[in-house]
Amino acid sequence: MKNSNSLFKERSRACVDIMDRKKIDLLVLPPGSNMYYLTGFHEEQWERFLVALFPRNRAPLFIVPEIYEDQVKSSTWISDIRIWHESDDPLVILEKVLSDLCLMGGTIAMDTRLWAKFFLMFLRLAPKAHYIESYEIMDEMRMKKSPLEINLLEKASSIADRVMKKAISECKVGAKEKDIALLIECETRRIGGEATSFKPIVGSGPHSALPHYRFGNRKFESGDSIVIDFGALYKGYCSDMTRTVFVEHCTKRKMKVYEVVKKAQQEAFEAVRCGIEARQVDRVARNCIHKKGYGEQFFHRTGHGIGLEVHEKPYIVEGNSRRLENGMAFSIEPGIYFANDFGVRIEDVVTLEECKGRRLNLYPRELIVV
Ligand code: CO
Repeated sequence: MKNSNSLFKERSRACVDIMDRKKIDLLVLPPGSNMYYLTGFHEEQWERFLVALFPRNRAPLFIVPEIYEDQVKSSTWISDIRIWHESDDPLVILEKVLSDLCLMGGTIAMDTRLWAKFFLMFLRLAPKAHYIESYEIMDEMRMKKSPLEINLLEKASSIADRVMKKAISECKVGAKEKDIALLIECETRRIGGEATSFKPIVGSGPHSALPHYRFGNRKFESGDSIVIDFGALYKGYCSDMTRTVFVEHCTKRKMKVYEVVKKAQQEAFEAVRCGIEARQVDRVARNCIHKKGYGEQFFHRTGHGIGLEVHEKPYIVEGNSRRLENGMAFSIEPGIYFANDFGVRIEDVVTLEECKGRRLNLYPRELIVV
């Protein structure tokens, strides 16, 4: 991503401006979405100490285990890279860096995803520092997507749409949940996704009533409802969608529940506009379901922001008074669940552009009997 260096640099500058305003002396980022967002280097966190440090008054730097040296150098614009070797103690390097930067005190913002064992290194070396969470610096920026980011989210969603179509066509009596999950994972990669953005959910029959069930050995039976929820990862950006389909036939009761969820999803989508509070969108979906007498059966939030992470801000949930703005991207996913019986959920990713909601998922929401 060499050509995007200026983008990452620009974000880092904006970030340091925020630190300046808030008088935060250092930002500490482990491998993960925040590190990628500012540096261009993408990796998971592992047991070897690897951090990007953004001091308020100095150029940023990396502390990197030798095995990552070339990868970090080829993917980031940051030139100050301190290497430690397998037999070194990274604590010694960190101590030197913190004392060189005069950062044994001051306010240090930590990414909350930093493993506790690494946080304890900072705590040992700088016990007097004032530690805060990095969200004050990063979240506002991450929430508002650039047109380029929206484009990647759209691509990720269109991959998911195509995979969903194929997955649904295979939901026949006798097929197993895990077969459909495997199909989703293979197909996502085959048509250009890096991977699924999380382990797919294929919940059939009573399993469809468990919102965060994954998949198992259960065979589909006639009359089952099947909740299929997954996303694709494309160039680091996530999609997330859910459809509920029925095998061979659908009872009147299930049909009614389905139509209520579909209506709630549509009404919440139509409520999306600039300036509306996130919780108001949640209330629209909730009221719609409550009015039909299923309020108790809709027990999760209406949605979540999406970007480099599948779940990020803004959360579309009661209590969140954050006003929605252009450039935000989030899911709208009401559901109704009857324990040990069945469940229905419909989910699309929506962006806010020109003060209106736009669905990134185009796969139909009409009731499907396979
Ligand atoms: Co979701």
